[in-house]
Amino acid sequence: MDAGEEEARSAYVKSTSELDVELSKPVFFVNSQGDVEKIHAILRDLRIADSDVKTEPASASIFKLTFKATALRGDKLKRFEDALKKGKCECISDGIVPWFPRKIAELDITASRVLSAGAELESDHPGFKDPNYRKRRREFAEKANSYKHGEPIPKMAYNEVERGVWSTVFNKLSQLYPTHACREHNDAFKRMIERCDYKNDDLPQLETISQYLRSTTGVRLRPVAGLLSSRDFLAGLAFKVFHSTQYIRHHANPEYTPEPDVCHELLGHAPLFANQDFADFSQEIGLASLGASETFIEKLATLYWFTIEFGLCKQDGNYKAYGAGLLSSFGELKYSIEDAGPPDRKGFDCEEASTTWYPITRYQPIYFVTESFKDAIQKMRKYAKTSGRAFTIKYNKEAESVEAVKI
Ligand SMILES: [Fe+2]
Repeated sequence: MDAGEEEARSAYVKSTSELDVELSKPVFFVNSQGDVEKIHAILRDLRIADSDVKTEPASASIFKLTFKATALRGDKLKRFEDALKKGKCECISDGIVPWFPRKIAELDITASRVLSAGAELESDHPGFKDPNYRKRRREFAEKANSYKHGEPIPKMAYNEVERGVWSTVFNKLSQLYPTHACREHNDAFKRMIERCDYKNDDLPQLETISQYLRSTTGVRLRPVAGLLSSRDFLAGLAFKVFHSTQYIRHHANPEYTPEPDVCHELLGHAPLFANQDFADFSQEIGLASLGASETFIEKLATLYWFTIEFGLCKQDGNYKAYGAGLLSSFGELKYSIEDAGPPDRKGFDCEEASTTWYPITRYQPIYFVTESFKDAIQKMRKYAKTSGRAFTIKYNKEAESVEAVKI
């Protein structure tokens, strides 16, 4: 067993030790393409006794196998997985339940596991050759990485150059919002100008906004140094925590940033989190991600991309933007709404949106159009049931914790 496998195995034990006994049994969901005999042949080859595994169809094309805790000892787990692949049975969940946070404070474990764009910048980043900018990024990264749940978010004094960048972005985008942003964003943005100190000559503070969001929808912001993995980022949403960067893009080009920055977070994302339905929809994506397989996490991250980042809706017969990637980009905000030719605009469907390819560095060729956030919540709840997990997640609002409940 290599180090990665060992880590996964100990994460499984750590996770399942907190689940009930039934849940701790390895459970596989396999797309058997209707050929149940393939599964039975694999079990026979591995000399797994009938009494050690319960086999049952879970839907027309999905087959569920529940093993006794001791049935896949030694190398049998690996041999079973290899045999599934060889038999062209797609394994929807692999029986290993990855560790996931059970309480909001456990986000402290994952919040500093930044993949990129923390203190270190890529060589093609606009600020790569600017020592002052890099020094500032290190300051922001240190503050974010030492933050612990429950503390006030450190206030940052932005310098003149940073305020200038904010001013440019704020002025240009706020001119477009009345005609291009959805009603929910415009309503919240007005309220946040009054209550959260949004203005064109200085940046509002994350702590002020977080307090406002908590008092309206229960969402809170948490500072982060850069990009998290999809799993760690989505886990935050389950607890109504939005990981937000606090640094600002480089001044060389205020219209462009290769990564999320405070303009994207506070102008694109934050106002929508003041809308209850949107906040609930975001939480549904997060809850669906806890303990999910890598395959399903990838689908949820794609779904997140086509909704929370690049979602459109139709209001009074016109397309409007609610995705933060659009609401923080002058160019794409106009392109997504105004252009009568391409792009393609489709009705929102979870299965389709979660499996559609998208480009990262250019305008999107496809946007999904949501009827309403309430409708999106219903669709999302239904979609979460296809995760292949052997449990559902119950959220306890008062305790800000989750519980895994056997299906
Ligand atoms: Fe974003």
